[in-house]
Amino acid sequence: MELAGKRILLIVAGGIAAYKTLDLVRRLGEAGASVRAILTRGGAQFVTPLSLAALTGEKVYEDLFSLTDEAEMGHIRLSREADLLVVAPATADLLARMAAGLADDLATTTLLATDKPVLVAPAMNVRMWLHPATQDNMALLARRGVAVIGPDDGAMACNEYGPGRMAEPPAILARIAEMLAPGSAPGSAEARPLAGRRALVTSGPTHEPIDPVRYIANRSSGRQGHAIAAALAAAGADTVLVSGPVTLPAPTGVTLVPVETARDMLAACRAALPADIAVCAAAVADWRVADAAGQKLKKSGDGPPPLDLVENPDILADLAAAGPVRPRLVVGFAAETEQVVAHGEAKRRRKGCDWIVANDVSPATGTFGGTDNTVHLLRADGVESWPAMSKSEVGRRLAAAIAAALAADTPAADTPAAAAVRRA
Ligand code: CTP
Repeated sequence: MELAGKRILLIVAGGIAAYKTLDLVRRLGEAGASVRAILTRGGAQFVTPLSLAALTGEKVYEDLFSLTDEAEMGHIRLSREADLLVVAPATADLLARMAAGLADDLATTTLLATDKPVLVAPAMNVRMWLHPATQDNMALLARRGVAVIGPDDGAMACNEYGPGRMAEPPAILARIAEMLAPGSAPGSAEARPLAGRRALVTSGPTHEPIDPVRYIANRSSGRQGHAIAAALAAAGADTVLVSGPVTLPAPTGVTLVPVETARDMLAACRAALPADIAVCAAAVADWRVADAAGQKLKKSGDGPPPLDLVENPDILADLAAAGPVRPRLVVGFAAETEQVVAHGEAKRRRKGCDWIVANDVSPATGTFGGTDNTVHLLRADGVESWPAMSKSEVGRRLAAAIAAALAADTPAADTPAAAAVRRA
């Protein structure tokens, strides 16, 4: 990772994850970056100014009203002399103050005064992260162009499990390098190549009722579909995520339409048209019970009730055949355990979509329920096989491939979907 000569202004807020930030500083130094740190009052409860100063080799800034700090380096200069501001850990409180535009300490004042790109690495209790207040704040910050990494799923210091852990230092470092790569300043055409485009993504399983309390479902977590929606939104697309029941939060900056059944999902997808891009990553139940019972089915003594199954509509095929409102690029998924490319290609032709992302879900890959994926991108002009990578990375690479394909086509401003974005 090459960050030689890059200047990072690191804001460390108060969270147990602050100990990981020290490792991030070390890695940034090894990659050639220089780091200046602002430590909030809360941050100083978790790491000392001395350890940050030792690792950065610089004075650590803490106080907005300190004559020495301001004389040595005013808060405007702190931001002016940086290429990127990184907030790690970003607490619920600091994110709320950023969203509200407060300037009540050195960290928030600097964040409000800066015109440099900002990356936040949230870290907090799972319920604080999932709270609508935090989610609304994140959506607002994303609309203003603040980049986000994490939080990750996992066991937390508070003995709970779920999203809330700060992203790991190597992942934060990789994102910093990406943001500082030539031509990728947030807001630039390179960083938001899908600005003005409209995207539709399906994700998660569907639940098909048997009676008011029972349903047919599958084990889809929604991780891959949600990661794709997040990546498309981060690339600037106005993104609608139609998702079956999952436990994941809606990704930042995405409009979530929650649904239960395949038929609901189809209706929500049709309502989201026109769109430039449709990515169908949902694991839609192939069948539903023909006549779901209105009341709970009771044991009658005559054995189990017969369940008459009928086929569900195929949403991917429906979108691919949507006539004048057909998205310019329709992408489907294929989960295969053998002959991954051949079966995926047959599916691409059968469903009439432009691309298929064929997942290798054989047990050795650990794809099902895991955080990584091994995929082949099948297009009319050939196959691209990607190495195993995280589902987030698959999302980002797919968004980049989609942006490249659309850029070679019509300019964003001329599409019917762009007109819909302008009307909204
Ligand atoms: N799909 C859909 N609506 C359905 C079924 C599938 O939109 N009713 C989409 C999925 O979102 C995915 C692709 O079609 O993009 C998967 O097709 P499917 O035929 O279900 O393939 P597999 O899940 O791979 O199953 P199989 O191999 O049994 O065909």
